[in-house]
Amino acid sequence: MQVVEAHGARIPLIGLGTWDLRGRTCARLVEQALRLGYRHVDTAEMYDNEREVGEGLRASGIKREEVFVTTKIWPSHFAPRELERSAKDSLVRLRLSEVDLLLLHWPNPQIPLSETLGALCKVKRDGLARHIGVSNFTVVLVEEAVKLASEPLVCNQIEVHVFLDQSKVIAASRKRGMAIVAYSPVARGGLKSDKVLARVGKAHGKSAAQVGLRWLVQQDIVVIPRTSRIERLEENFALFDFELSDAEMAEIGALASRDGRIVDYAYSGSPEWD
Ligand SMILES: NC(=O)c1ccc[n+]([C@@H]2O[C@H](COP(=O)([O-])OP(=O)(O)OC[C@H]3O[C@@H](n4cnc5c(N)ncnc54)[C@H](OP(=O)(O)O)[C@@H]3O)[C@@H](O)[C@H]2O)c1
Repeated sequence: MQVVEAHGARIPLIGLGTWDLRGRTCARLVEQALRLGYRHVDTAEMYDNEREVGEGLRASGIKREEVFVTTKIWPSHFAPRELERSAKDSLVRLRLSEVDLLLLHWPNPQIPLSETLGALCKVKRDGLARHIGVSNFTVVLVEEAVKLASEPLVCNQIEVHVFLDQSKVIAASRKRGMAIVAYSPVARGGLKSDKVLARVGKAHGKSAAQVGLRWLVQQDIVVIPRTSRIERLEENFALFDFELSDAEMAEIGALASRDGRIVDYAYSGSPEWD
């Protein structure tokens, strides 16, 4: 499995996204993904599926140390004591003694970032997480976070796919040694109807979705596609037996726009997920 290295973390280039996967379906998909070769699973306390993700991990029979497990703390729990409690609760649900990566899920303007990062770094030093990072952080927030954190921040997990230009925040995060983990990398299924991706895919014997994912991993961007269908687990994983030419990379790169965002959300303290 190819990995991206960042501040000592080795993050497998493909992971399974699990947002919206619940119950038996979630446990089965995680188990099956690991059997197929996935070695990276992305969850969050907000997804309400950490228990099932843990079940899937154990059912797969793959050794714990071979799988990279990420979870995330919801912003309503960013006050230091709550953050610590929240990290411990996630471990209890996952039935793990530590996660590989613990992220701040969305910025929370209501709680000083210095306090939240202090608590996140402490959780790492206490051995609850091997690595820590952020998600949905802008260029300005990445700079601020790096200055405030006493431990390295190894990634910024953000929305990235062929239809969205994220070049500025990608460059800012990489300048600070952070890996980019792309969420919604198949644009919630939108890749499959794109004509350019379909044409390029035809030339390589690949689907449009595979081309869009390959375009990301070929730039060392980690992808965490989600699917609820076992057959698509294999499709989304088969990205390393072909290569896009420079011309193909450029043509696909031209599909992006500044307003191609799918996830239109900002944490405002709303009780929606509390
Ligand atoms: N940090 C954050 O704030 C944040 C935000 C959003 C997501 N995430 C993480 O990123 C993961 C992925 O993002 P996402 O779930 O938003 O979107 P995504 O992975 O881009 O898209 C998932 C959707 O695309 C479909 N799909 C998957 N593979 C496909 C393929 N090969 N061909 C056609 N359709 C395909 C799936 O349908 P089927 O189920 O029918 O296959 C599903 O409806 C999440 O699950 C979560 O772990 C993080």
